[in-house]
Amino acid sequence: MSSRENIDFRIISVFIPKEIKNLLMLRKVKVSAPGKIILSGEHAVVYGYPAILAAIDRRLSIEVSKGKKSENLSLEGKKLLEFALNEINKDLGKKRTTSYQIKIDSQIPIGCGMGSSAAFAVALAAAVLCYYDEPWGLERINKIAYEIEKKQHGNPSGGDNTISTYGGFLLYRKETETFKVFSSLKTQVFPSLFLINSGKPIETTGEMVDKVKRFRLKFPNKVEKIFEEMEQVTRGFLRFLSKEESNLGELIKTNEELLEALGVVSERTMNLIQKIEKIGGSAKISGAGGTKDNSGIIITYHPDQEKLFSFAKKESLDIFRVKLGEKGVRIEKH
Ligand code: PMV
Repeated sequence: MSSRENIDFRIISVFIPKEIKNLLMLRKVKVSAPGKIILSGEHAVVYGYPAILAAIDRRLSIEVSKGKKSENLSLEGKKLLEFALNEINKDLGKKRTTSYQIKIDSQIPIGCGMGSSAAFAVALAAAVLCYYDEPWGLERINKIAYEIEKKQHGNPSGGDNTISTYGGFLLYRKETETFKVFSSLKTQVFPSLFLINSGKPIETTGEMVDKVKRFRLKFPNKVEKIFEEMEQVTRGFLRFLSKEESNLGELIKTNEELLEALGVVSERTMNLIQKIEKIGGSAKISGAGGTKDNSGIIITYHPDQEKLFSFAKKESLDIFRVKLGEKGVRIEKH
């Protein structure tokens, strides 16, 4: 028997060393990043006020392999992908091939305030760095993702990409365009929160941020006062997280009132939130909101969950439990 006949080719096909895979460009990497909710401080965070964000147990994953076609992408999606890959190439410092095959798989509804675009930016940056065996620093991933977010939203705070990168609970503040501070918050076990999807807003995040900008230009004092009060609510949440304050329902309610005063919640969503309050619960939008029709995801809390569930059932609303403080970006397959 020749030596060739002694080799078990099945085993060889399983154990191709990474270096050989790199040479043959057969590698596949898969990375995932979480969505988020904002407990307090959306919009105000664009103007340097603090916000508290939490990563959630819904993730977006991206698989990168060699190839030309990227699956299931609209024209808009393809343009964004092209921009994002250019941004990543800039960071890599040399022109790499753009003939990757990108496969996106997401559990995060698009455009509802759950951070799907940031999770995309973070997972893509991380996956391409990983594909090239580049150093995988979270700071680097976050920086690239922020540039991609700017392309999408114009003037984002950077909070969404930061929570998707680092995960957990974060207190976040954008001091200047180049200087952002954030701190991971250690928390007690957080009470169950449920999300109700009020529906995708007609407006984009960029348009809502712009709406607030115009409102602030017209009524600077009024808007500054809303932001200052929102900061107080954010501090209340901080005390709640460190067990110094117990009224979560009241914090959510006040936060919502301030967002309504800012003009980012639609009539329809306000009505829905009032109904939740009538049955003893509290609710707030999370993220940019929307005024023309729906306002995206609503965070709801009720000391008696059953009441919330039977209300959602009666109103035929899409309700689901969300786990907070989940892990940030991570490699799934390398
Ligand atoms: O709706 P989202 O998930 O895009 O959240 C936007 C949060 C804002 O505070 C309104 C904008 C920002 O960049 O922080």
